[in-house]
Amino acid sequence: MVKVGNVIIEGDVALSPMAGISDSPYRQITKRFGSAFSYTEFVSTEQLKLGNAKSLDMFRFVEIERPIVFQIFGSDLETVVQASEIAAERKPDIIDLNMGCSVSKVSHNGSGAGLLKNIRLAGKMIEGIKKKTNLPVTAKIRLGWDSHSLNYLETVKVLEDSGVSAISVHGRTKVMAYTGFADWNAIGEIKAKANVPIYGNGDVQTYKEALEKKKQYGVDLVLIGRKAIGNPWIFGNTPKQMVPWFQIRSLILEHLDMMLDFYPSTDDYALILFRKHFIKYIENLGFPEDIKRNLLSVSSVNEFKEKLESVQMDSNILETSEINNESINCETFVSLV
Ligand SMILES: Cc1cc2nc3c(=O)[nH]c(=O)nc-3n(C[C@H](O)[C@H](O)[C@H](O)COP(=O)(O)O)c2cc1C
Repeated sequence: MVKVGNVIIEGDVALSPMAGISDSPYRQITKRFGSAFSYTEFVSTEQLKLGNAKSLDMFRFVEIERPIVFQIFGSDLETVVQASEIAAERKPDIIDLNMGCSVSKVSHNGSGAGLLKNIRLAGKMIEGIKKKTNLPVTAKIRLGWDSHSLNYLETVKVLEDSGVSAISVHGRTKVMAYTGFADWNAIGEIKAKANVPIYGNGDVQTYKEALEKKKQYGVDLVLIGRKAIGNPWIFGNTPKQMVPWFQIRSLILEHLDMMLDFYPSTDDYALILFRKHFIKYIENLGFPEDIKRNLLSVSSVNEFKEKLESVQMDSNILETSEINNESINCETFVSLV
């Protein structure tokens, strides 16, 4: 159990925020499968202030997702604080400031990981959001901008002094983006010194590994990102290769229906959005390549469903090739709205 301000979070492992992935349908599914809480995709404070409907829509959620954390990013103090007030009208449990996004368009503009170069400003943002919204405010950081500026301990101190209620740490620098490995020793060092709950994050492959990391490094909770795409079973400690194909197929169809409901449109918008999930659901299952190609090109939902329903697979044989985790990163699906 973790206490974030006045919010109680039960559980050890949660879905990491991912642009293009952690929307309401997938948050509902992962919460049901055991994710401790829900984190929205990051949303631009500039766009929120401008009243951009698509940005506001990213804060749509249903009760089952609670505790729900709205994540925002920005570089201008006044804009961030004003936008947090707009966000708070939608009644999240917690607001999170993104200080970890490495995408150039975000971080070189002073927001996301760019805030690691200006931690006093980040501290003022935390203070301002808290005062304006009266909600617990958290932050998601990296270890520093690059290996020569590992300022994580100082960052944590400044954020704590500003009233932060918990901090998620992705154990890489901004310059590393998604290369190399997350430094869990650094995450452990933060946890040992911090006065607020710390969530560890980076490269966790299984639920079991998350629990091991929690124990070894003392963190309060572990966030899983890439390995949870197309794999909500990870939150229930069930290896995907143990799940029978008919159950995987049934979840694929349910997820698609949820997206069709959530993104109503007259064309194939939801189906196109769903493709990235679909690719990950069937990854390493020995799914027939020709049928996969075909399913990724159909634009009729009914045709997609019929074709998928006709696929029979005896068991889920994990291919021996490792999933290339580095091929997917936070730039993959990012749309800066
Ligand atoms: C496709 C994608 C989108 C991401 N979007 C966000 C985001 O919106 N906000 C955020 O804080 N981190 C974002 N991240 C970073 C993840 O939350 C996480 O910190 C990172 O992937 C490391 O964890 P992992 O090794 O378990 O994937 C994103 C990562 C990926 C792969």
